[in-house]
Amino acid sequence: MTISRTLKRLAAVAAIAGAFVAGVVASRAEDAPAGDPVNGKRLYLADGCFECHGRAGQGGRFNYLTPALAQIALPVESFTAFLREAPNDMPSFSADVLSDKDAADIHAYLSSLPGPKAAKDIPPILNQ
Ligand code: HEC
Repeated sequence: MTISRTLKRLAAVAAIAGAFVAGVVASRAEDAPAGDPVNGKRLYLADGCFECHGRAGQGGRFNYLTPALAQIALPVESFTAFLREAPNDMPSFSADVLSDKDAADIHAYLSSLPGPKAAKDIPPILNQ
């Protein structure tokens, strides 16, 4: 078999695998429980997420910069898994402290936050 044939086959296998993974991810996202952003806000404040990540989910500082969470890109499963075993300086939140439903609610709240404005939408500060 020529090298170019082998490469074509590999590309075909990769494309099929990619489509399969995309399908699994999409069906998982549909299965996820719909979070309640109102309860999510309550938990975000009560559980102290805001102390490190900011009241508007804008990010902040702990021992080093903490990431912004508004308009969170992580899917809810990855988000919940992250909370269960947080790395470095973030405390972990076990299911006893924060259930999967609670995590989904916080995720829904973070998704509902507007996040930063585009630079062009911030009015300039003018001198008098
Ligand atoms: C004591 C400070 C602190 C608290 C409280 C805290 N976090 Fe964090 N969080 C961090 C730090 C620091 C990181 C960055 C971790 C690293 O070094 O990778 C982080 C990272 C994250 C990330 C990953 C974001 C990304 O883009 O990689 C998520 C999601 C997150 N936190 C959610 C939460 C939620 C939800 C709560 C409340 C239940 C919470 N955090 C409470 C400090 C905190």
